[in-house]
Amino acid sequence: MENTIRSLQQEIIDFEINTPEALETFRLRYTVRKGLIATLFGQLKSVEPAEKPRIGQLLNELKQSADARLSEAEEKLAATTSESGKGIDLTLPGRRYFTGSEHPVQKVLGEMKKIFSDMGFGIATGPELELDHYNFDMLNFPPDHPARDMQDTFFITNGNADSDVLLRTHTSPVQVRVMLDQKPPIRVICPGKVYRNEAISARSYCVFHQLEGLYIDKNVSFADLKATIYSFSRQMFGSDVKLRFRPSFFPFTEPSAEVDVTCYLCGGKGCRVCKKSGWLEIMGCGMVHPNVMRNCGIDPETWSGYAFGMGVDRTVLLRYKIDDIRLLFENDLRMLRQFPA
Ligand code: DAH
Repeated sequence: MENTIRSLQQEIIDFEINTPEALETFRLRYTVRKGLIATLFGQLKSVEPAEKPRIGQLLNELKQSADARLSEAEEKLAATTSESGKGIDLTLPGRRYFTGSEHPVQKVLGEMKKIFSDMGFGIATGPELELDHYNFDMLNFPPDHPARDMQDTFFITNGNADSDVLLRTHTSPVQVRVMLDQKPPIRVICPGKVYRNEAISARSYCVFHQLEGLYIDKNVSFADLKATIYSFSRQMFGSDVKLRFRPSFFPFTEPSAEVDVTCYLCGGKGCRVCKKSGWLEIMGCGMVHPNVMRNCGIDPETWSGYAFGMGVDRTVLLRYKIDDIRLLFENDLRMLRQFPA
């Protein structure tokens, strides 16, 4: 009998009670009135009198441990089989959730914004659905300027052929909105999406990103513009980058320039990306045209300023070695997951 008690003791310890069914099996086998332990108590009277106290003691211990296991398992199961958690297996490994991460365009834009905000520039935004008036007229575009051509601009006609509404073709109208809204001194950057009705290819898309800059104060000169662009470029493209300002034309700046940086892929030696020239164009810039200032109610005799507008997407493509601009706009998870947080 002693051996039976000891092997039952071990059985009770080893018994796995993870489900209500196992709990019921355990109860029926050991603790009910006709269970194994009660049966052994019934057999106690046939044990030799001298052995009775010892065997009785062992049996009591057996009963106690069976009862303890039962109530412990009951409690555990009650906790996991409440109405909301029915059937939950707490021993299963947890589910992993996919956490989003920053889009590569936003990563690069974030770096650019940080550099300019460290130099004291605030951030301004404007609508992507813009009026012809802000996108062209106020920026000193003559009425017959080719940039207004239907081929470049998405006009939103909505059935009305003379509509003044379009998708902005550059971030420069935000300059106008800021100048109408704020008194100088003004120092802002305006990042955002712009739209152009161009042939779509790996290198150009109908939507892309620009970052505009505007600084208006007393005695602002072209030297201030150069210093700002130079400081920005060194932080963005590396401390030994060189700059080249080429004379250019924009209706809203005079004088105007386009800025190249030494190709940061080949260090200026000439490669496929810079088309063997050693230079990459990064932006247009210039001194804000007096007509634009006057349009916005700012006296060009008192104030002067510079402006610049740079493309963002090309830097993203080069930085991450992405060879097709369309990938930046398709939201394909196979591509986005390559840029974890
Ligand atoms: N808006 C021009 C473009 O999209 C870029 C530009 C050139 C912006 C010169 C400026 C500027 O602010 O001063 O091509």
